[in-house]
Amino acid sequence: MSFENLSIEREGAVAIVTVNRPAVLNALNTRTLEELGRAILELKHDEAIRAVVLTGAGEKSFVAGADINELAVQSPTGGREHAIRGQQVLDLIEHMGKPVIAAINGYALGGGCELAMACTIRMAADTARLGQPEINLGIIPGYAGTQRLARLIGKGRALELLLSGDQISAQEAHRLGLVNRVLPAAELMAEARKLAATLAAKAPIAIRYILDAVHQGLEMPSAQAHTFEATLFGLVASTEDMREGTAAFLEKRKPAFKGR
Ligand code: COA
Repeated sequence: MSFENLSIEREGAVAIVTVNRPAVLNALNTRTLEELGRAILELKHDEAIRAVVLTGAGEKSFVAGADINELAVQSPTGGREHAIRGQQVLDLIEHMGKPVIAAINGYALGGGCELAMACTIRMAADTARLGQPEINLGIIPGYAGTQRLARLIGKGRALELLLSGDQISAQEAHRLGLVNRVLPAAELMAEARKLAATLAAKAPIAIRYILDAVHQGLEMPSAQAHTFEATLFGLVASTEDMREGTAAFLEKRKPAFKGR
C-alpha cells in the first residue's frame, strides 16, 4: 500500500495508522479520505491484523477537520457527494469488524471528532481539544457527526456542542462520555498500543460479533436485537476459539485464539 497522506506501521497483530498532513493539522482532504478508506479495507481483510490504532502526525493535532480549502469552494451537489464519501469511509471504520482505537493526540475538530467517534474506543491526551465547530463556518457536520455524537453522549449534550461549536478539553470530553480515557500526552501512544495488543489477543470472531451486536443491534427494535444477539451467541459456539477459550479456563492456562 502506498500513501501520500497516511502512514501505516505494523507491530505484530496491531496496525498503527497515522494521518500525515501536519502542515494543515492533518485536515482531511479528498485524497486523505480516499487513502483512509483504502487502508481500512486492506486492514479489514488482512487476517494477521486484529486491532488498529488511528492517530495524527505531530504533537498538535489528531485531525483538525475536513479541509476547509475544499469546503470553501464546494457546490451543493458536490457537498452532498463529499459528505456521503466521508460517511462511507467512517462507516467502513465502524464496521471493519476489528477494534479501532482513536489515539487523540491533539485537536479532534469537525471531521476529526467525527472520525474519532467512528472508532471503537477513544483515548485522548490531556492536551487534546475536541468539538464540532462547523457552525462557526456556517455549515453543519457532514460525516454523520450529528448522529454519532447524539448517540454517544445524548441529545441534549450533543446539541449544545453542535450549536455552540465550542472546543472542549479532553477532561470535559471524558466527563461527557465522548472519550473513554484521558492520559498524559507522553503516555498516549504507549497506552493505545498496549490496549490494542490486549484486544488483538482476544478471540477475533467473538470480537467481531460483539461489534456487530452493538452497532447493528442498536439500530433494531430491542426484541429483534435480543434475538440477533442470541443468534450470534449460538453462531460463536461453532468456533474453535470457543472450544479453546472454555478448555483453557478449565485447564487453568491462557487461551491461544486463532480466529477460527
Ligand atoms: N482545513 C484546512 N487547513 C487547516 C485546517 C482545516 N480544517 N485546520 C488548520 N488548518 C491549517 C491552517 O489554515 C494553517 O495553515 P497555514 O499555516 O497555511 O496558515 C495551519 O493548518 C495551522 O493552523 P493554525 O490555525 O495556524 O493553528 P492554530 O494553532 O492557530 O489553531 C485550530 C488551531 C485547530 C484551532 C485552527 O487551525 C482551526 O480552527 N482549524 C479549523 C478547525 C475547524 O473548523 N474544523 C472543522 C472543519 S469542518
